[in-house]
Amino acid sequence: ATHKTWSGRFDEPVSERVKRYTASIPFDWRLWRHDIQGSLAHARMLAKQGIISTEDLAAIERGMAQIAQEIESGAFEWSLDDEDIHLNIERRLTALVGDAGKRLHTGRSRNDQVATDIRLWLRDAIDEIRSRIRTLQTALLGLAEQHAATPMPGFTHLQVAQPVTFGHHLMAYVEMLERDWERLTDCRRRTNRLPLGAAALAGTTYPIDRWAVAETLGFEELCRNSLDAVSDRDFAIEFLSAASLVMMHLSRFSEELILWMTPRFGFIDLADRFCTGSSIMPQKKNPDVPELVRGKTGRVYGHLVAMLTLMKGQPLAYNKDNQEDKEPLFDAVDTLNDTLAIYAEMVAGIRVKPEAMRAALQEGFATATDLADYLVKKGVPFRDAHEIVARAVRAAERQGIDLAELPLTTLQQFCPQIEEDVYEVLTIEGSLAARAHIGGTAPEAVQAAIAHARARIAQR
Ligand code: ARG
Repeated sequence: ATHKTWSGRFDEPVSERVKRYTASIPFDWRLWRHDIQGSLAHARMLAKQGIISTEDLAAIERGMAQIAQEIESGAFEWSLDDEDIHLNIERRLTALVGDAGKRLHTGRSRNDQVATDIRLWLRDAIDEIRSRIRTLQTALLGLAEQHAATPMPGFTHLQVAQPVTFGHHLMAYVEMLERDWERLTDCRRRTNRLPLGAAALAGTTYPIDRWAVAETLGFEELCRNSLDAVSDRDFAIEFLSAASLVMMHLSRFSEELILWMTPRFGFIDLADRFCTGSSIMPQKKNPDVPELVRGKTGRVYGHLVAMLTLMKGQPLAYNKDNQEDKEPLFDAVDTLNDTLAIYAEMVAGIRVKPEAMRAALQEGFATATDLADYLVKKGVPFRDAHEIVARAVRAAERQGIDLAELPLTTLQQFCPQIEEDVYEVLTIEGSLAARAHIGGTAPEAVQAAIAHARARIAQR
């Protein structure tokens, strides 16, 4: 243990238990690409500023290329003694290229190094997630287009409320995902700032050029305070919050898919490859994938709360607590990537059962509001119309029939203004077509919403 990078100060090696407790290499090895990327940008700046020689830079570049190759091929030997990804790579670099490797850390600390790595890593992760959101939206748009005119019950309180189209319902999720995409894009801007140069906490005495490093790494801004640069992880919390909202949306959708797939609803069927059977009940086809999405939502929320709690008690600047930022972040990113990918495939495999949707609509007095609106257009005040229709609904319910099945003479007993043309508004198609404004459920409005969403996606 005497070869520890900081061991000169210590009389005895850390115990094995402490070593295992404090090491992050078992999980932070995942940062290796971004650690090398950050180190190379730093080294190039050091050489440009004359802080290290161009020979040293060349040696560092050569060593890093070999390390990348070793890690990729699985030949790299990870060591718990070297604590984390940063020291593992630095140790190997020095073994490969000697003193040049030891000069890499000039004007830098692991504190600004790790903050940089995490931001680089998260930036890539955000971009992957944004693109997966797009893929899912595209799958939803395809299905919505096929069903822009397919009637289904819209629900409030999980009771049949008014007719909507299945395409309209799907487009609600396209909108939610659009806001999720916007939130991630926004959070990317605050993630995309350079901590390097902050060193341990107070900055450095070397004549560094922070903008040169930022430019090499594609950062749009610099962290403007060295204490803040090494200590805050609010960008990661923002990400986890945006991630939680993505999962919340997909969890709601999952709940609907699960309900719609029960034989009682029977609105849809999921492709067999997304379901499993029961080991005892032969008739079962269980919606495991949506159920797991609903379940995994809890785990992403947990990561958000973990990270908020991790930060709340930390005095400035860096504390080792921050090492605990990685596992929640990694797991949230993995969960989102997997969930979005499987969701896009699952949506493409949804089989819609329009007859069942229509049957449910016909049982629920879904056009009662349309009848009230009809009466209003005939001059009846809305509150009176509401009461008249409520009585008509009760009559139909007693007879076990739909409003549209009540004879004209019966309807006229509730309100003499009702005429033969009432049956046009009592149909499902009539109810849908009457809501043709922007954001409405008429098939033409849904088609317009689809076109609008497609254009928005194409231009962003
Ligand atoms: N593994 C550490 C982390 O993830 C790197 C920074 C360590 N800095 C320190 N002063 N111990 O946060």
